[in-house]
Amino acid sequence: MSNEKLNIGIILGSTRDGRLSPQVGQWVKGIADQRDDANYEIVDIKDYELPLLGTTDGTEPGIAKWNEKVDSLDGFVFVVQEYNHSISAALKNALDFVREPWNNKAAGIVSYGSTGGARAAEHLRGILGELMVADVRVHPTLSLFTDFENFQTFKPAELHLENVNEMLNQVNAWSGALKTLR
Ligand SMILES: Cc1cc2nc3c(=O)[nH]c(=O)nc-3n(C[C@H](O)[C@H](O)[C@H](O)COP(=O)(O)O)c2cc1C
Repeated sequence: MSNEKLNIGIILGSTRDGRLSPQVGQWVKGIADQRDDANYEIVDIKDYELPLLGTTDGTEPGIAKWNEKVDSLDGFVFVVQEYNHSISAALKNALDFVREPWNNKAAGIVSYGSTGGARAAEHLRGILGELMVADVRVHPTLSLFTDFENFQTFKPAELHLENVNEMLNQVNAWSGALKTLR
């Protein structure tokens, strides 16, 4: 197997104005970049301006670019927020727009919400199974009540740092191992 560094995308799952996901994604990237074990990048689904699946002829350039981006990555960290006990419609739509490029890769989840986004994260795990993405066990859960000031400014508790690093250990290990199948 090659010793090249893996490419891991930190995928922002929300697109609304005023969203919190960029703060959380930057925090994950800051921790990840200190490890020097993979190439980490923020992947913002908003940048791809994806239409709602099935409502256009599918020729928007963002659709092909989104597929190419997912294809170029070895693994993922999904920054997931809870919308009505599930993932956002924007994230589900983005997941649905890609098929084979997801396969045989690994993913971790960092979620937030009133109960740490746990219900959304569990829904995402079911979807990832269908897409043949191996989701790792360690899952940092951030509380809107205690990890954000006024539900706006991200001030994560210290305890999450260890979980993020352990989650990244698992994502890297499985993304590397699954390379043999890709
Ligand atoms: C349509 C909608 C539904 C929501 N439903 C839930 C929910 O079921 N559980 C929860 O914990 N938070 C819920 N929230 C709060 C969001 O988790 C919170 O606003 C979070 O910041 C959204 O992520 P974002 O800021 O990245 O868009 C909901 C927010 C919206 C906009």
